[in-house]
Amino acid sequence: MTVPQPVILDVDTGVDDACALLLAALHPDVELRAVTCVGGNASVDEVVSNTLKVLDIAGCGDVPVARGAVRPLLEPVSHARHVHGEDGMADLGWPSPQRRPDPRHAVVLLADLLSQAAAGGPDDRVTLVTLAPLTNIALFLRTYPQAAEGLREIVVMGGAANVGNATASAEFNVWHDPEAAAIVLESAAELDIPLVMYGLDVFYDVRVTLDQAAELIAIGNRGPAELAGRLIDFQCGRFGQPDATIGDAGAVCAVIDRAALTTRRLPVRVELAGTYSRGRTIVDRRDWSGDIAHDPHGMAPTSVEVALSVNADRYAGLWLRTVSVRRR
Ligand code: RIB
Ligand code: CA
Repeated sequence: MTVPQPVILDVDTGVDDACALLLAALHPDVELRAVTCVGGNASVDEVVSNTLKVLDIAGCGDVPVARGAVRPLLEPVSHARHVHGEDGMADLGWPSPQRRPDPRHAVVLLADLLSQAAAGGPDDRVTLVTLAPLTNIALFLRTYPQAAEGLREIVVMGGAANVGNATASAEFNVWHDPEAAAIVLESAAELDIPLVMYGLDVFYDVRVTLDQAAELIAIGNRGPAELAGRLIDFQCGRFGQPDATIGDAGAVCAVIDRAALTTRRLPVRVELAGTYSRGRTIVDRRDWSGDIAHDPHGMAPTSVEVALSVNADRYAGLWLRTVSVRRR
């Protein structure tokens, strides 16, 4: 019997954030302690509403949800409605949530829960899974660094060792707030927080088909399975594809089944300048047996576990089995 892992999600719900929320809320090996919201795919208030809705459908109306940063530290807001729909979550038109968010700001909720976890000892340490621009996390780490004691690790859905998506260079979550991503990387090194980068190199590999979505929808009753199926169906329709990625949900799979992910500890920097490269995660895969003295930049100060490949069928099966629930 596995002891459920304490987890906090930071989200910009978001079609694939919703896929991740369902997995975290329903899987027995995850103890979902809280969800913090940030502007990204949609406005922070839409993200809060979408998140509350998903947790209500999953029967997790007791999990605290807190509103966080409205916009990035420096960049203007740049929502992704062309990907996630006008309301940020597939425009399903399902009823709005009754529940209100936690009265605390996301950063304060993180500080409170992680300070409690720190006091609770090693088994109480929390895995923070970030599925959005890192604005909340940067503000938290700069404001309450001592509370980071309550972290087991941070799994960041963000960045890419190869090509981007928001631009040719950059992945959306990092591109949206590059300064925040740089602060999180720097803080992880300074505060000795283990960090896994679940980037685009694996993000698109874990896919579910239209037929599998139809089976989920058929379970009906506007429960978790039907919601999961409609999220996949929406993406297939939006992109004219016979299948769709579970996206952010793969980062939660990595918490549940790390053995299916292949990572390598590599130096990573975030490009903050650059006309066409701003927001790129520069993952250094050079063989450093050479002479670093000739590189004017030297090695990046922060090395993290970069996900380079994944057993995609294993994660897709994990997600499908977990969300195939009529309603709690
Ligand atoms: O680049 C993919 C990421 O950007 C995902 O988290 C998706 O939800 C969007 O936020
Ligand atoms: Ca997201």
